[in-house]
Amino acid sequence: MSISVTVPLGDRSYPVLVGRGAVGRLGDMVPAGVERVLVVTQSGVPLDAAGVLRGAGLDVATVEIGNGEAAKSLASVEEILGRLSALGATRRDLVVGAGGGMVTDVAGFAASLWHRGIRVVHVATTLLAMVDAAIGGKTGVNLGHGKNLVGTFWQPSGVICDTAALDSLPPREVRCGHGEMAKYHFLTGDDLLGLPLEERIARCVAIKAEVVASDERESGRRAILNYGHTLAHALEIETGFAMAHGEAVAVGIAYAARLARRLGRIGEDRVGQHLRVLEEYGLDSGLPATSDPDHLVALMHGDKKALDGLTFVLDGPRGVEVVPGVDGAEARKALADMAVR
Ligand code: GLY
Repeated sequence: MSISVTVPLGDRSYPVLVGRGAVGRLGDMVPAGVERVLVVTQSGVPLDAAGVLRGAGLDVATVEIGNGEAAKSLASVEEILGRLSALGATRRDLVVGAGGGMVTDVAGFAASLWHRGIRVVHVATTLLAMVDAAIGGKTGVNLGHGKNLVGTFWQPSGVICDTAALDSLPPREVRCGHGEMAKYHFLTGDDLLGLPLEERIARCVAIKAEVVASDERESGRRAILNYGHTLAHALEIETGFAMAHGEAVAVGIAYAARLARRLGRIGEDRVGQHLRVLEEYGLDSGLPATSDPDHLVALMHGDKKALDGLTFVLDGPRGVEVVPGVDGAEARKALADMAVR
């Protein structure tokens, strides 16, 4: 049985189906009038979205993009657009992004560009895509200058999170998903750890859906979904992406708690709660021994959120919120409070 969560965006609202075998319901997510479907996927993706769609009587073509961050590129988008052109895809047709967050980001971006925007459905096959990337309509690719620098807001018509895909997920990718999952523990008062996996994923989706509905284009509140991400982005850059995103988010969450403590926003008990959640997920929350704290502070100054000095998403008496103008010296001291791995 699947759990259905709605992302409530008025006439662009859409369902997210979470459950083992949910991909079998992909046909139900195809909007009326679609004639052709282009499935964007990667080698090694464990679900056969194209097969399910063919079984539903649709005319289906597939394009595989490369693996690895280098393939999260404008070249991949151009390849997808070329296939849509070769298929003669019209505004009535559909893109399906089947894979992890990279696939759903690239497929969503291409769908948003073809004929100024055609519909897209995502089949998320990694934990990170299920609880974050495939939900909420952020799309994008990297440039040589940095990650996710080009993109659009383009909501899907539906999302499938088939937990059977997680059976074969490599341990490192499980960790990365847990890094993103951990942030949701602090966005509401829920005890997510007590929930079975499917329910926990669905709850993360519901939390994200509520935040996205309140601020779809991130003019303010949506930035709380980047809890733990300010240091995480700096660590990814500092380690030349040897540290994967979700792993870095785990460290970033521990750091956000330490910084909030330094700024008097939370007490030591709340810092302890953060560390316990990270530990329950088996996540390492220490800074790499090779990190240079001054360099990390400099990198955090360059974060996309940093319009007004150092900007963080921090816990506090009103819950997690965006906090601009944080003193660099405090940010530096909070790094010194961190455990080192
Ligand atoms: N991944 C953060 C967001 O979708 O806003």
